[in-house]
Amino acid sequence: MAIRNLRYDGDEILTKKTKKIEVIDEKIKELAQDMLDTMYANDGIGLAACQVGMLKSMIVYDVDYVEENKEKNPVVCINPKIVSRSRSMVEVEEGCLSFPNVFENVIRHEKITVEYTDLNGKKKTKHAKGMEAIVIQHECDHLDGIVFLDRVEK
Ligand code: NI
Repeated sequence: MAIRNLRYDGDEILTKKTKKIEVIDEKIKELAQDMLDTMYANDGIGLAACQVGMLKSMIVYDVDYVEENKEKNPVVCINPKIVSRSRSMVEVEEGCLSFPNVFENVIRHEKITVEYTDLNGKKKTKHAKGMEAIVIQHECDHLDGIVFLDRVEK
């Protein structure tokens, strides 16, 4: 277990596109665990690899832990791709571990379908709504070098 240093607003890595993960080796598994450790240690509900300085296409999240104070339910998505989006939109206040103390309303799709590979190399398809759909959209944006403030209505 290791908590990695977060990258903050102004760090150019947050504006870069991440690279697809081709092989799920021990380094990737360690990165996934470290990202979860870092997320929980900072009371976050989601984290993208670029936020700990790695330009790799991986996100982690756990929407249950903070929201309902249940046991941990971590999700690791490798090479996630949002393949469908509902027409209906929702506006929710978001924050980001790379932007401490900044909260802004962002309009997102209410429901999404995401395809990804899990840590065991299995292809998964997830239909998400509510907070889970919002977190996935926020974290997948990071993988394209987009941060939530880029989505705020000007
Ligand atoms: Ni973020």
